[in-house]
Amino acid sequence: MEPFARDALPGRVVLGAGAAEDTVPAGAAQAAREEAVTAEVLASFGGADAPRYREIMESLVRHLHAFAREVRLTETEWQQGIDFLTRAGHITDDRRQEFILLSDVLGLSMLTVAINAPASAGATEATVVGPFFVAGAPEVPLGGDIAGGAKGRPCYVSGAVRGTGGEPVPGARIEVWESDEDGFYDVQYPDGRIGGRGWLRSAPDGGYRFWSVRPAPYPIPDDGPVGDLLTAAGRGPMRPAHLHFKVDAPGYRTLITHIFVAGDPYLDRDAVFGVKESLITDFAEHPPGRGPDGRLSDEPWTSVTFDIVLARLPHVPQAPGI
Ligand SMILES: [Fe+2]
Repeated sequence: MEPFARDALPGRVVLGAGAAEDTVPAGAAQAAREEAVTAEVLASFGGADAPRYREIMESLVRHLHAFAREVRLTETEWQQGIDFLTRAGHITDDRRQEFILLSDVLGLSMLTVAINAPASAGATEATVVGPFFVAGAPEVPLGGDIAGGAKGRPCYVSGAVRGTGGEPVPGARIEVWESDEDGFYDVQYPDGRIGGRGWLRSAPDGGYRFWSVRPAPYPIPDDGPVGDLLTAAGRGPMRPAHLHFKVDAPGYRTLITHIFVAGDPYLDRDAVFGVKESLITDFAEHPPGRGPDGRLSDEPWTSVTFDIVLARLPHVPQAPGI
């Protein structure tokens, strides 16, 4: 059967032998045919046990079908979409995550962050996790160095972790990851190195400090299907320089965010829409000499202060005896 042509939509289609009473408006007949497909698929999820699963899948089907109807998706375009996702799957492994990249460049990641952002006024704003977080980063002591051999200008990062009520948060688990000065994360190198990532705990007064390297702007991996998408859109792959944070503490909402380097030329055209004004931070440059902790640097170094404010989780009273 030939696909229904967009140009054929106006006018009338003839059902049956062509008698005048058997004709219906073409648009109405076509719409009914399409709605029947959607209704049948929606009904197929009616037996799902989990209400949330059913809600998500039914909504996904409704919106996906509405999208196909709106653009009058051709079979060639459907195949191109399948090919795109197939390529994304083939290029993804435990060190390359093309699907997170796709979510990022489509703004779905930032929309999900916005939907789930805590309502607590004063909490540090969240942003995308990105495709380069990997579990198993090494622990470093307070004041330690997470660079692990990553190339770049030494950078002293310090601040305090507090709740929105101003209370210090001791023992918070602070995980950080970043690119080296060439714009590459450790997982982008084929030699299995671990560098530019690590975690530490905040001190009893909520303070934290560590050495790292000054972050650099970098292009998201654009040698795969997501890169082709950006090229077709006339968009660039660059992200402004940033340092990723993931902060966990009991009783508080987990915070995933970055700090961005003030003055970076890509702040207004981040490929993944992750920049928020409140996260743009001044990085100070220093000549060779001693850092705040007495460490001697024979090359210029950088420092930044970033105070982290966590939103409290809602208090859930426990039943007596539990
Ligand atoms: Fe990043």
